[in-house]
Amino acid sequence: MQDLQNPLGVGGFELFPWFLNSRVWRRMHGLDGGETGVDNQMAERGFEGIGAWILGRNMFGPVRGPWPDESWKGWWGEEPPYHTPVFVLTHHPRPPLRMAGGTEFRFVTEGIHAALEQARAAAGPADVRIGGGVATIRQYLEGRLIDDLHFAVRPIFLGAGEQLWSELDVPGLGYQVTEVVPGERATHVMVSRLD
Ligand SMILES: NC(=O)c1ccc[n+]([C@@H]2O[C@H](COP(=O)([O-])OP(=O)(O)OC[C@H]3O[C@@H](n4cnc5c(N)ncnc54)[C@H](OP(=O)(O)O)[C@@H]3O)[C@@H](O)[C@H]2O)c1
Repeated sequence: MQDLQNPLGVGGFELFPWFLNSRVWRRMHGLDGGETGVDNQMAERGFEGIGAWILGRNMFGPVRGPWPDESWKGWWGEEPPYHTPVFVLTHHPRPPLRMAGGTEFRFVTEGIHAALEQARAAAGPADVRIGGGVATIRQYLEGRLIDDLHFAVRPIFLGAGEQLWSELDVPGLGYQVTEVVPGERATHVMVSRLD
């Protein structure tokens, strides 16, 4: 369950030590140091050559329903770590929100295809990264619109949560596991669309 104190759901940060200890995460937050092993390399790969992001509205924040005002600006402070346009899927319109460091949140109410079209136009030759959450990834998976996915698997149980794979015929959609990389704090499973 997500709320203001638990942006990743209760216990959700236990999924992330592999990333939160990495050099790439610390640099993103203006900090020195950090681990430089396999987990860091896998995190770095995910940020290379990204020209635009797509997020679901629940990954952007805990506010549900019509926006009561413009005060919620994401979890990430005045300078979010995206540094690109970020297209936020929602049914509730809102003007674009320009942040420090090149991030601009643009709210898209016309659905996943419109968001992808806008993100591709903004990214040019660079890649578009879909950041989550689950409802957003599922729609793009069902549409076979994702080329590559990176899962960082941690051996913990959290709760019922959101169901990423439930009732999805992943191989039927053309996806296979293409790489498994054991890291220091997580196992990295790469999944790609092969047809
Ligand atoms: N990946 C991460 O690092 C990360 C970060 C933060 C949180 N999370 C986790 O992700 C969870 C959120 O997952 P989720 O599956 O609830 O959320 P999500 O995919 O982020 O957001 C779902 C919401 O986005 C809007 N939306 C999605 N598809 C749409 C479409 N086609 N057209 C218009 N609007 C659309 C809808 O909001 P409206 O209809 O209300 O506008 C929908 O309720 C959180 O609870 C948290 O645990 C993950």
